[in-house]
Amino acid sequence: MPFLNLYPKEIGFNMLKNFRYPLGILFSNTLIGPYEVQLDIIHKCNLASCVTCWFYSPYRKKKISKKWVEQTLDFESFKSLVDSIKKIRTTQISIIGEGEPFLHKNIMEMLSYIKESKMKCKVITNGTLLTDKKIHELANIGVDEINISINAGTASTFYKVNPKSPKRIFEKLRENIILFSQYENRPIITFSNVISNINYLEIEKMLDFGIECKADRIYFKILDTFSEIEKLTLNDEQKMEMIDSIMKIDKFKMKNMKNNLNEFMQFCLNHEKAVEETPCYMGYVFSRIKDSKYVVPCCGCYTNPIGKISNNKSFEKIWKSKKYSAFRKNVFNQKRREKAGCECHQCPHFTENKKLDKLFKFIKILK
Ligand SMILES: C[S@@+](CC[C@H](N)C(=O)[O-])C[C@H]1O[C@@H](n2cnc3c(N)ncnc32)[C@H](O)[C@@H]1O
Ligand code: SF4
Ligand code: SF4
Repeated sequence: MPFLNLYPKEIGFNMLKNFRYPLGILFSNTLIGPYEVQLDIIHKCNLASCVTCWFYSPYRKKKISKKWVEQTLDFESFKSLVDSIKKIRTTQISIIGEGEPFLHKNIMEMLSYIKESKMKCKVITNGTLLTDKKIHELANIGVDEINISINAGTASTFYKVNPKSPKRIFEKLRENIILFSQYENRPIITFSNVISNINYLEIEKMLDFGIECKADRIYFKILDTFSEIEKLTLNDEQKMEMIDSIMKIDKFKMKNMKNNLNEFMQFCLNHEKAVEETPCYMGYVFSRIKDSKYVVPCCGCYTNPIGKISNNKSFEKIWKSKKYSAFRKNVFNQKRREKAGCECHQCPHFTENKKLDKLFKFIKILK
């Protein structure tokens, strides 16, 4: 499962300025917490029908249970997790779900708590529950980034990738996102698009939609597959057709909107080779806590937790454990990657690793 982030230059330089990251990578050790921790807070989803979704795709044969859907992270447990993550000087907490975070009854308090704890704060959302009032609140709280999963450039494609979504929801989403631009202190707006054979010829329209909604960045990612949605993956011909269409996009338009199209095309052309040639930095900068307690080191190792948080096992203990350290070493060294037991061939963090590799090139030489 991907975490949809762009590691823009400013974040990279923050990492570089903090000597603990480069030194940690150099000596295969951790001198600080992850730069970003993603926290799952909810399983329920208001759309519950995105065709690519690991949990809610209508193509999934095994339906999820009512008990699973009801699982949430309660506010008290959330606060203690945030406190422990802050202790090891993590910079950012990103709120996500195996469902939709804006359905959590305490979402605004949670975001405020992160900001009061002096950390950066991001939410990954389908955006369809945003309202005038919520947008005002988000700007007031000082949320740093909102990642809106659009997965389309036009209304008709949006309804194809979210077949059960209510009427006019795309149009309402557009109207609401534009409202962010009236706030001086607004969050960074990132649009993310998971690309399947339904929307692969809409890359330019996705860029246009981002520009129209005054988004700051746009992120593209080939879908992660599982057996039931294999039919949604692009074949080689479609990949080339898509790359051709990207090459024809006006350069000025490309410059107008921060994007990861270079990394995206590199991944599409030969993802196995692209991943193989790039060291993995995720063990030093990222972690995810799913189902309130399972610590997974990246979204490609989603079914393979490094540890389980409990009364006598804090996040810090797991982060500093031998098992986590072995993961870091294995995935940095591409040849030992299979030992980590992750889905590296379809790495969901390729863009981030590629960007970090440029930044930390000097470490690779010293190592
Ligand atoms: C599972 S959703 C949860 C958060 C929220 N409901 C949302 O849609 O943003 C997290 C992210 O996974 C993306 N996603 C869904 N199915 C995917 C797939 N098969 N491969 C890659 N990303 C996928 C979504 O577009 C979204 O950006
Ligand atoms: S909105 Fe998010 S959680 Fe809900 S179905 Fe779509 S991808 Fe899955
Ligand atoms: S290379 Fe493998 S371990 Fe590293 S982020 Fe990608 S999937 Fe995870």
